Amino acid sequence: MGKYSDLFTQSINDPESFWGEAAEQIDWYRKWDRVIDNTNPPFFRWFTGGEMNTCHNAVDRHVENGRGDQVAIIYDSPVTDTIKKYTYRELLDLTANFAGVLKGLGVSKGDTVIIYMPMIPQAAVAMLACARLGAIHSVVFGGFAAHELAIRIDHSKPKVIVCASGAIEGKKILEYKPLIDKAIELSDHKPEKCVVFQRSQVSATLKPGRDYDWQELVKTAEPAPCVPVAATDPLYILYTSGTTGMPKGVVRDNGGHAVALNWSMDNIYNTRAGDVFWAASDVGWVVGHSYIIYGPLIKGCTTIIYEGKPIGTPDPGAFWRVISEHNVKVLFTAPTAFRAIKKEDPTGSYTKKYDLSCFKYLFLAGERLDPDTYHWATEILKVPVIDHWWQTETGWPIAANCMGIEPLPIKPGSPTVPVPGYDVRILDDAGHELPAGREGNVVIKLPLPPGTLPTLWLDDEKYKKSYLSHFKGYYTTSDGGYKDEDGYVYVMGRMDDVINVAGHRLSTGAMEEVIATHPGVAECAVFGVHDSIKGQIPIGLVVLKAGVDIEPSTMTADLVGMIRNEIGPIACYKETSIVKRLPKTRSGKILRGTMRAIADGREYRMPSTIDDPTILTEITETLGGMGYPGK
Ligand code: COA
Ligand code: AMP
Repeated sequence: MGKYSDLFTQSINDPESFWGEAAEQIDWYRKWDRVIDNTNPPFFRWFTGGEMNTCHNAVDRHVENGRGDQVAIIYDSPVTDTIKKYTYRELLDLTANFAGVLKGLGVSKGDTVIIYMPMIPQAAVAMLACARLGAIHSVVFGGFAAHELAIRIDHSKPKVIVCASGAIEGKKILEYKPLIDKAIELSDHKPEKCVVFQRSQVSATLKPGRDYDWQELVKTAEPAPCVPVAATDPLYILYTSGTTGMPKGVVRDNGGHAVALNWSMDNIYNTRAGDVFWAASDVGWVVGHSYIIYGPLIKGCTTIIYEGKPIGTPDPGAFWRVISEHNVKVLFTAPTAFRAIKKEDPTGSYTKKYDLSCFKYLFLAGERLDPDTYHWATEILKVPVIDHWWQTETGWPIAANCMGIEPLPIKPGSPTVPVPGYDVRILDDAGHELPAGREGNVVIKLPLPPGTLPTLWLDDEKYKKSYLSHFKGYYTTSDGGYKDEDGYVYVMGRMDDVINVAGHRLSTGAMEEVIATHPGVAECAVFGVHDSIKGQIPIGLVVLKAGVDIEPSTMTADLVGMIRNEIGPIACYKETSIVKRLPKTRSGKILRGTMRAIADGREYRMPSTIDDPTILTEITETLGGMGYPGK
């Protein structure tokens, strides 16, 4: 562990020299005055006084440095039968041009823009164009319903919305525009303008005076140059699920973000300019922001925008086809994708159809990498399979086996060790540090490294309350876990009401808020149960209001419809049972954790604060009737 240990120690003891050196790798219009500004704790800012532009670093500088003819983006879309490549020079033209479009619509530095797009290159162009102008984008994942989009419109108050006419999800064609129209109808804030990219598979109706056709606007737009921004100016807001229906607006700054991502490409992913790096995720998630768009492009790699699934587009060999066809060195995805592939092709026979000699590393994140999936992936691919742990808030990995520093022995079930910059500790509920092997709250000693969230959008207080108030001087990850004798981190799961469904972060609290509005429901509990493909899925138990008589199947259909409508299909909410009562503590707190343990067949300790232990027998029977545990 020599090299890793040295770097880690330097990053913690002397962050100025560590990150100052890393910052030399990107272009600045004006160098920073301070590497880390710690004059206003618990807020820390990186590279104060510095001026740069993220789009310049991701696009223009590569053209200036002779990479103009290198492919920047490969759009591979099995669902539309398209493969299209864009060089850095072409990406620069498209981005400068679309930045001109946005500028023409009145967007300037500091304005917000919502982007609601599927996995098409125009999503990258829209994000980069915002960065070019110093405008702040907020990408909303396409699987979220109008109501969720409306919440984000009201909170981020975009001047313009950029969207596509629709998405192709496997074999389904989904119209996006009616959803955008409904979201704008629902929101109090009304964006002035909406730019719609019309896809040939689905055509959107435009509202005169508000909606503009992307393809028409770019014909006459004046290309716009990069606008210098402060390192500390926001690049984007990405809303992520918290414990309630109100998502958290995670803010990412420009300077620290570019420095950290650039460093991570070398040191974590062992990837250099010119390599092909593929994150099979979606631009709507943090993985998409960091490792489909910004990380690989800032590094000068070729990135892949893949509009397809691991299975069914057309078969479980889809990932191997893309790797072999585009010479992919590194694939990053979520374990759920591998579980889906394994189910359809248990022997990995499809790997044999392709030459995978270019492929060097598989990185997995988004949820815990279960040892079974780890062993299966290692066996069929015969490359290092690297679990790494992070969150929307941090923007890049907290714990990993840093392939570019020094490969460490892999311990299945552990994302290895804290990445330089992250001082990870395990604390008990009273804030005492726990010894090796003891499970507790996984926290990070402040300051967080560059690239992590400086605050929540327009809400410093919520930032402090959500992340910094539990243990003074530490950032709370809300994950539970432990470290072993060798300092390896084990992340066992969330300690709050956030669940991970197929690598997508969702709030059970938000689902409960929707269910509670059903006229027949007196109270309810939603919690995540184990699912062999998606890792977790939500299920709901509801208590009816007195006098209400409703068939369980009708209740289930009602709630499935409501959650699809309000939150979106991505919630994967499918199962409900009606119960007479819910287990609670004497102070009235619903014991979701205990019910989850029963559903997963895990041992649990009878909570000492439980009001009536006999309810647990009823709940065990109900869950048994639903097929839990063992489903
Ligand atoms: N726009 C609109 N709807 C979307 C969508 C989008 N961008 N993405 C997903 N949905 C819909 C799906 O169509 C599906 O709807 P349905 O209930 O009507 O069928 C629902 O949301 C659930 O989607 P998903 O979780 O993707 O389930 P799936 O059964 O279609 O696919 C997997 C299962 C495992 C193959 C898929 O989840 C997957 O590829 N996961 C990879 C992990 C990943 O990308 N994680 C991101 C973080 S790294
Ligand atoms: P998101 O913000 O959507 O990236 O989700 C972050 C959460 O996903 C974390 O807080 C963890 O609970 C979980 N997570 C992500 N990666 C891992 C991992 N490698 N191991 C365990 N849990 C993970």
